[in-house]
Amino acid sequence: MKIITIVGARPQFIKAAVVSRKLQSTPNVQEVLVHTGQHYDGNMSDVFFQELDIQPPDYHLGIGSYTHGAQTGKMLEAIEQVILQEKPDWVIVYGDTNSTLAGAIAAVKLHIPVAHVEAGLRSFNRRMPEEINRVLTDHSSDLLFAPTNAAVKNLHAEGISEEKVHLVGDVMYDAALYYGAKAAQNSSILDRQKLTPQSYILATIHRAENTDYSSRLQAIFGGLVAVAEKIPVVLPLHPRTRSALSREGLLNDVTRSLRLIEPVGYLDMVMLEKNAKLVATDSGGVQKEAFFHRVPCITLREETEWVELVESGWNQLLPPVSTVAVTNIILNSLISKSNKEETVGLYGGGLAGEEIVKQLL
Ligand code: UD1
Ligand code: UDP
Repeated sequence: MKIITIVGARPQFIKAAVVSRKLQSTPNVQEVLVHTGQHYDGNMSDVFFQELDIQPPDYHLGIGSYTHGAQTGKMLEAIEQVILQEKPDWVIVYGDTNSTLAGAIAAVKLHIPVAHVEAGLRSFNRRMPEEINRVLTDHSSDLLFAPTNAAVKNLHAEGISEEKVHLVGDVMYDAALYYGAKAAQNSSILDRQKLTPQSYILATIHRAENTDYSSRLQAIFGGLVAVAEKIPVVLPLHPRTRSALSREGLLNDVTRSLRLIEPVGYLDMVMLEKNAKLVATDSGGVQKEAFFHRVPCITLREETEWVELVESGWNQLLPPVSTVAVTNIILNSLISKSNKEETVGLYGGGLAGEEIVKQLL
């Protein structure tokens, strides 16, 4: 069986690492890895291939950054060529990026079945580029690997036939378990940053709906700057957010107040998450990883796809509407003792990768 795996953006390298490791140890399976080039800086791409032992891509399409239509279109055209050449039995796509959508459409139009890992997530906010990517990818897919019960329900509500949908758990939980020990052994980020456990907040911000709008960007970073007067805020800065802060004239102020660092590799990120007193983020992956390490999380958005985290009390939504709201809610949550349910199995048992390969076979 020949399988093409499409990746392109940071979280996809982490998700694909889990499944690729299983595929590679399965007899009679050949995986062809395609990197679209959506993320290309060393610390957004290469570092993950090195740390997570991912095979070098068989095809690097080198597409890079463009507007949505141009980026997705260029990827679609290039992926189509790879599929025509390789004639795979399946194409696997991950998550909700433009690389995901391009991979799914290229395959389905050539009548190659598509497997979507992390299917069924919905924010019900159609202004998010990711929401459009997810919906279209799910409706183009033949096998839909849902990470949560909520995702399964969403797919059923959209009329996707039950036999295509498999609740397998979350590959990011598999990754957290598998690489957790390696992170503890190999990462020196706490020493390098002179951080002690439980003495800092870890923040990440990169969503378009937060970085592309001046008022939201100011509310978030104004809030984080105020919080940093009380407790250090460590923030690995996504390149999109660096450009946005620079555009808004906020970069100097923010650099003075926060511990801005370059994007880090996965192993360093795990250590930063595990030892933080609180995580404040708009990232999908980071919300869940906070929970995997049982660190409370504040999500700087109106809604989340990972609703079970809010229901169980581990995650609190904080719509970033004003500096005061961001400051007060973050500072309050540092001292509040709100109930957090000790739920088991929300994201499966760490065997999502195995289950995905089993279903594919
Ligand atoms: C993309 C995904 C988002 C995902 C995120 C993970 C889409 C629509 N968005 O958002 O769902 O959560 O990846 O991190 O697919 N840039 C660099 N170097 C890089 C990559 C990007 O400088 O290696 C800069 C460029 O200026 C680019 C901007 O970041 O225009 C945004 O990159 P892009 O891949 O378009 O979107 P992300 O915000 O990274
Ligand atoms: N991550 C990382 N280094 C960083 C920031 C994030 O390794 O500097 C990891 C993080 O641990 C998680 C994934 O990248 O596994 C999340 O990616 P991101 O926040 O970019 O995207 P999202 O999950 O929101 O799509």
